[in-house]
Amino acid sequence: MARPSNITSRAHSIKRSDRESRNGHKGAVLWLTGLSGAGKSTLAFAMEERLFALGCQVYTLDGDNLRWGLNQDLGFSHGDRTENIRRAGEVAALLARAGLIAIAAFISPYQTDRQNARRAAGGCFHEIYVRASLDVCESRDPKGLYKKARQGQISDFTGISSPYEPPESPELVVDTANSNVAACIASIEAYASEQLIFPKSG
Ligand code: ADX
Repeated sequence: MARPSNITSRAHSIKRSDRESRNGHKGAVLWLTGLSGAGKSTLAFAMEERLFALGCQVYTLDGDNLRWGLNQDLGFSHGDRTENIRRAGEVAALLARAGLIAIAAFISPYQTDRQNARRAAGGCFHEIYVRASLDVCESRDPKGLYKKARQGQISDFTGISSPYEPPESPELVVDTANSNVAACIASIEAYASEQLIFPKSG
């Protein structure tokens, strides 16, 4: 997208490092991508609770939730998904700059869109692939959407009539077909502790 003309960005006098040292952790984006039914929202909200309990400033951006408000004008065409992820990526980046750990749970099926979200976050983007095969997700079908997609009642459904491009080199993979929620959360928590949370002094 072209840079706007006649617009000057203004620097904040409060440094990001000041916000981070007060919070005790880095500002970051934990970006969960995967098929519908892979477990992104379950893990995101469980992770939000866990990090909050550890004293972190954390907030989850969830695909379904954002589509009730900010992104209510968007559907599931390629162009609409790209715009959905562009907005989500910019909001997640803002939260990270404000010092929060932003957990983003979006199918985000296109590599290019995820790369753009990574760029928006400027070096604090951590891609987590919530992996489960289409067969597994379809057998779970928690919202009954796969059934509707198979019956032709929903078009452009990810994995059925719309593509999903798996991450090529995510920072972390959690395999929800073979590990339970607790194990996946433990793996994300270990990663966050190592990468984001400052050791307690004294
Ligand atoms: S994304 O592809 O643009 O990243 P997003 O994560 O915001 O998708 O929303 C996905 C959610 O929308 C799914 O979990 C599902 O509940 C719902 N949904 C409704 N229609 C579709 C569709 N055609 N494809 C995928 N998900 C859909």
